Amino acid sequence: MQYKYAKEQLDYSDLSSGRVFYSLPGHPAFPVRLASEIFQRCVARRETIYKDSTPCTLYDPCCGAAYHLSVLAYLHGEHIREVIGSDIDEKAVAVAKRNLGLLRIAGLDRRISEISKMLEQYGKDSHKDALKSADTLKKKLSALIEKHPLEARAFQASAADGKKILKNIRPKSVDLVFTDVPYGQHSHWRDSDFTEVSNPLGSMLDALLGILSPSSLVAIASDKQQKVLHESYQRIEQFQIGKRRIVILKPV
Ligand SMILES: C[S@@+](CC[C@H](N)C(=O)[O-])C[C@H]1O[C@@H](n2cnc3c(N)ncnc32)[C@H](O)[C@@H]1O
Repeated sequence: MQYKYAKEQLDYSDLSSGRVFYSLPGHPAFPVRLASEIFQRCVARRETIYKDSTPCTLYDPCCGAAYHLSVLAYLHGEHIREVIGSDIDEKAVAVAKRNLGLLRIAGLDRRISEISKMLEQYGKDSHKDALKSADTLKKKLSALIEKHPLEARAFQASAADGKKILKNIRPKSVDLVFTDVPYGQHSHWRDSDFTEVSNPLGSMLDALLGILSPSSLVAIASDKQQKVLHESYQRIEQFQIGKRRIVILKPV
C-alpha cells in the first residue's frame, strides 16, 4: 500500500498514547500515520463522490480508548465538527470519555494539572515531555475551536445494537464512520448476540444504516479473515497494510 496523503512519517510524539492521551492497558494504539491516511482518503472521496467538503460528524462504534478519534481531531480538526465513540466495554468507554475530554480546553487544563502533580511527585523526564506536548496540543486546540466548534462524546453500546445507537445519535447525522474493529489477540468481538451471529461485521453494518447521512462513508480496519460484504453498501476502496485490511464503503 502506498501512502497517498500521509506521505511522510512525521513526528507524532505529542499525540502518542500514554503521554497526554490516556492508554487502555492491553490495547495497542492504532498507528497515527495510518489513521491520518485513511481519514484523508475518506475526506477526498467524500468530496469527489458527494461534492461535500463540510466538516463531518465522525463516529467509531468500536472506539476502545477513542485514541484514533482523538488524534484525528487534532490532526484534521478543520474537517471535523463532532466526534462520537461507543464501545461495548464499560472500561473502554470510561477511557474514551477521558480522551475525548481532551478535545476541550477545560479537559486539557485538567490533564495539565494532573501531569504537573505527577512531575512534582516523581520528577520524571517523561512528565516534563508530557507537559510540553500538552502545551502544544492546547495551542492547536485553541486555534481549531476559533474556526468552528468541536463536539465530542462517548457512550456504551454494542456495535450491532442499532436501536441503542439510534437512541444516542440522531438519524442520518453521521458522515464518516471510521472503526478499527476487534481482531487478533488484543480484542475480540463481544456480545451475547455474537455467540449466534457468525457475521459481526454484517450486524454492525446493519446497525449503522439508520444513522448514516446522505453523504456518508464507512472505513473499516480489520484482519484479512473478516469479510466486509453487505448488500446495502458498495466497496469504494480496499488496501492492505501488514496484517490489517482497510475497506472504505459507501451506502447504496
Ligand atoms: C481494536 S479495539 C479499538 C481501539 C481503538 N481504535 C483505539 O484507537 O483506541 C476494538 C474495540 O472493540 C470493542 N468491541 C468488541 N466487541 C464489540 C461490540 N460488539 N460492540 C462494540 N465494541 C466492541 C472492544 O471492547 C475494543 O475496545
